[in-house]
Amino acid sequence: MPLIRVEQLSFKYSGSKEYSLKNIELKVKKGEFLGILGASGSGKSTLCLTFNGIIPHSISGEFEGDVYVKGYNTKETSVAKLSTIVGLVLQNPDSQLFNMTVEEEVAFGLENLGLDIEEIKKRIRWALRLAGLEGLENEFPPNLSGGQKQRLAIASVLAMKPEVLVLDEPTSQLDPLGKEQVLSLVTLLNKEQGITIIMVEHNTDYILEFADKVIVLDKGEIILEGKPKQIFEEVDLLQNLGIRIPASVKIAYNLKKRGLLESSALNDRELVENIRKMLNKKT
Ligand SMILES: Nc1ncnc2c1ncn2[C@@H]1O[C@H](COP(=O)(O)OP(=O)(O)OP(=O)(O)O)[C@@H](O)[C@H]1O
Ligand SMILES: [Mg+2]
Repeated sequence: MPLIRVEQLSFKYSGSKEYSLKNIELKVKKGEFLGILGASGSGKSTLCLTFNGIIPHSISGEFEGDVYVKGYNTKETSVAKLSTIVGLVLQNPDSQLFNMTVEEEVAFGLENLGLDIEEIKKRIRWALRLAGLEGLENEFPPNLSGGQKQRLAIASVLAMKPEVLVLDEPTSQLDPLGKEQVLSLVTLLNKEQGITIIMVEHNTDYILEFADKVIVLDKGEIILEGKPKQIFEEVDLLQNLGIRIPASVKIAYNLKKRGLLESSALNDRELVENIRKMLNKKT
């Protein structure tokens, strides 16, 4: 059974003319890493909000079809219950942090779960260690760096022990170091802790390397779905949608178009290999 199953999902925000999601069909398996790509306004965030029930419970509109999380139909399950299975991390860490210390921030969601104090302490230590924030327990969250703040937002969600982490552009407001820290953490959570990841991320090099599956949204529809390698063969289509193509993919594609290279490449190593092959042939 897939962990998340989306069947014939369409959604229109109250007051909107257009549907923001149209006939979405999607399955996400346990442990899988799903990357979501698409132009601005294509429905990426709207889709993310359907996984923990914020849509349709807290945001109203016309909701058709079904989303099942671990077998629970989100229409019939509270956001509080769904949040123990699906953790959501948003773009702006500042909007997700509102406690006086790092430790209190992580404790906050746990206090409502009815856990005993020892379990709460254990989970705080575990989440802060994974997020690389040990030693910062008593810091005032606004004093942290951007990367630390976003890792704290992730730790707060992690402490709830969700099976799925949904991240909506978690690095877009971070500097290069902060981006790298957050991306390494996401990789670790997926590859070492086995947490299922659903991630909207414009850093396509990262998605190409670490996602198991990618969907591309356009005007609320899934227009491409497959392994990253298959998706990034569609250079023209992705480019027309304004999706950033990794540099090596683009260079190989342009050289191939001019007859200067035989095969496409999906990373620097493949590009170098293919160029070397062509040069060897010429000499
Ligand atoms: N609260 C809302 N009320 C009405 N329409 C909305 C609302 N939120 C989003 N929309 C519309 O739904 C469509 C999809 O928006 P969404 O935010 O899901 O796109 P996105 O792919 O996440 O874009 P971005 O890359 O800019 O974050 C857009 O046309 C947007 O204007
Ligand atoms: Mg968005």
